[in-house]
Amino acid sequence: MHVSRCRNHTPVSTKLGTQGAMNVSELRLRLSRAGQAHLLQFWDELEEAQQVELYAELQAMNFEELNVFFRKATEGFNQSSQQEKVDARMEPVPREVLGSATRDQDQLQAWESEGLLHISQNRVAVLLLAGGQGTRLGVTYPKGMYDVGLPSHKTLFQLQAERILKLQQLAEKCHGNRCTIPWYIMTSGRTMQSTEEFFAKHRYFGLQKESVIFFQQGMLPAMSFDGKIILEEKSKVSMAPDGNGGLYRALAAWDIVGDMERRGVGSVHVYCVDNILVRVADPRFIGFCVQQGADCGAKVVEKTNPTEPVGVVCRVDGVYQVVEYSEISLATAQRRGPDGRLLFNAGNIANHFFTVPFLRDIVSVHEPQLQHHVAQKKIPYVDSQGQRMEPDKPNGIKMEKFVFDIFQFAKKFVVYEVLREDEFSPLKNADSQNGKDNPTTARHALMSLHHCWVLNAGGHFIDENGCRLPAIPRLKDASDDPIQCEVSPLTSYAGEGLESLVAHREFHAPLIIDEHGVHELVKNGL
Ligand code: UD1
Repeated sequence: MHVSRCRNHTPVSTKLGTQGAMNVSELRLRLSRAGQAHLLQFWDELEEAQQVELYAELQAMNFEELNVFFRKATEGFNQSSQQEKVDARMEPVPREVLGSATRDQDQLQAWESEGLLHISQNRVAVLLLAGGQGTRLGVTYPKGMYDVGLPSHKTLFQLQAERILKLQQLAEKCHGNRCTIPWYIMTSGRTMQSTEEFFAKHRYFGLQKESVIFFQQGMLPAMSFDGKIILEEKSKVSMAPDGNGGLYRALAAWDIVGDMERRGVGSVHVYCVDNILVRVADPRFIGFCVQQGADCGAKVVEKTNPTEPVGVVCRVDGVYQVVEYSEISLATAQRRGPDGRLLFNAGNIANHFFTVPFLRDIVSVHEPQLQHHVAQKKIPYVDSQGQRMEPDKPNGIKMEKFVFDIFQFAKKFVVYEVLREDEFSPLKNADSQNGKDNPTTARHALMSLHHCWVLNAGGHFIDENGCRLPAIPRLKDASDDPIQCEVSPLTSYAGEGLESLVAHREFHAPLIIDEHGVHELVKNGL
């Protein structure tokens, strides 16, 4: 479903419709006051349709605000280029704010039960950040629609939807209430329509349509190093989504926090689209945060490789934040503690917990204080002759806010550490690009985990001669082929409930366990 949005986000075409004819001289004046007059330099060469499009695009922009964003972002960027200063002020997360799925095993049951209670009372929502462009993966459609080649060929969206469905059932079973976990999905101009169409085509994967709520983040133009907005074509500004921290502006523009309040939601699990193992609305994480009285929390895995592209959760000047992988120096990333582990090892897996009152505070008070981060990029542009150029070194910047930049406003911040093998395998790159975080590693991580679940539930795998395969559940190397085993989220959310299906039984891989039963694909000739 859609929620209503405010004036600022009125679609461009409507604006034109209501304003009637184009007032180009007024636009020219606005542009020249803001130092952006070059945007109309090809105006007279454009066809009428192109003029209409460009006019609409520019009319929708607030150039004064953009210039302020640019000034503040680049000031911040120049300061933080003196990296040692930030590095010297970084401290690791202290033990007292840390909960751990491995070290605090005696607490897990209580956290889970607390989380399920909140879910059963309709007090938990999930919010998916799906406005990214998937540039590294190299697909033209939203990443959530990607099929990594599991035996079931389920997409990332489907896996997440089915986990939500299963969790609703588990909460109902545990606490006797029928419940709904609203699913808020943030898209961008580039992903909105195809995402919505995909969900409609798949009938919301069995979820109620009214509890899947789409909204759209904003876009910002790319700018040259001297603050000029870049044209990618004579009639087109180079635009990109404003980062996953664009969430907070979008929450306000689409009245999403209001929608949460009206539904009685008390806390939200915010996560990224690309992690195939994501435990959507993880009751343990939610229960842990709630029991700690936290208004803000982050889930982490241990970072073991200094150059792994994950941000680290830490404190800077006593304030919690994530220092992003692009912003930490190698020397700091490589620092080790007395136990030999990386000193900054709280690897951010982009799973966050926020209470709704905290989000209300962010959108009402703090959002404007969030600084844009600067990414230097090679941005295709048209030169002054109107020739399209593809630069071979960075020629400008993109400005982005980050979702975790609100940690600094938390009154009580906590961190929850989980095992990477259980919960984190992101899909970032194409198989062709490099051996990490690609469709193969994502597929393998899921099947390896599900293989473990079957072994833990007392099942065994045998080879074609009927000999039991050694139970080596984890892959040593991402390129090793795992035993092909896939458990539908509709059957098990996190490995629970499999005993009655697999205990004391022997299986040939590939094995699929789903709501229809246990299927050995080869035996069944599938
Ligand atoms: C992100 C985290 C990083 C973490 C890593 C784990 C941020 C800023 N960085 O990095 O700390 O260690 O994931 O995998 O969160 N997105 C939007 N709108 C945008 C840009 C991105 O919704 O404008 C969404 C994407 O669709 C995706 C998520 O944000 O779901 C993460 O985006 P991505 O660019 O892949 O982040 P990373 O750089 O990998």
